[in-house]
Amino acid sequence: MSAVGAPASSAAGLMDRIYKHQRHIYDASRKFYLLGRDQLIEGLNPPAGGTVLEIGCGTGRNLIKIARRYPRAMCCGLDVSSEMLVTARASVARAGLQDRIGLAQADATDFDPQALFGRAGFDRIVISYALSMIPPWQAVVEEALRRLDKGGSVHIVDFGDQAGLPSGFKALLLRWLGLFHVTPRENLPATVRGLAEAAGAQCRLAAPFRGYAVHAVLTRG
Ligand SMILES: C[S@@+](CC[C@H](N)C(=O)[O-])C[C@H]1O[C@@H](n2cnc3c(N)ncnc32)[C@H](O)[C@@H]1O
Repeated sequence: MSAVGAPASSAAGLMDRIYKHQRHIYDASRKFYLLGRDQLIEGLNPPAGGTVLEIGCGTGRNLIKIARRYPRAMCCGLDVSSEMLVTARASVARAGLQDRIGLAQADATDFDPQALFGRAGFDRIVISYALSMIPPWQAVVEEALRRLDKGGSVHIVDFGDQAGLPSGFKALLLRWLGLFHVTPRENLPATVRGLAEAAGAQCRLAAPFRGYAVHAVLTRG
């Protein structure tokens, strides 16, 4: 299963520049500070034969874990960076999961899942540490909610407000993340709650790791 779309934004050039070299050390380095991804995957629980889309799938690390954890799920991933997708395709092939993970190049703010993956909706949509890299991130959450099948859910993990961590930690973290054009969204919890309400979805929020991360699950009735 595979699909390729054309990137429609300048985000592609920026992300390719950031990840051209970083992609080679991405999985090994990010496991230390992209916290909460495995907990998100553990809570996904897609229906048997269900479909999972990851928006901003990067190296495919999450999709491979999802496909292994839920062997009856079909997975799709899109990313704006062709550099990241080179690594993702190689990793998916190495894992022998090409038949269950489709990958496509697309901008999260403007994509057509029917053209990319042959389907209009998904049972689960994952957005892991991507909203902090996409300036119009609220539009991505709105679009994800629109792309849910009935009973489906959007699962978000990203940087939290660091409220429970020692003072000074947040300033250091923000400086480090700035090197990679990452901007934690201070108002993420309140904003996703509002977007969920507007879409008639329920919203569950948590701030794991003493507020290092924020985890949101938006469920459509
Ligand atoms: C910090 S990485 C997270 C990757 C993966 N989700 C993970 O948890 O390991 C953010 C990803 O979002 C992608 N991205 C950034 N802006 C995007 C956009 N406008 N549309 C789609 N993907 C985008 C980047 O190329 C990158 O692969």
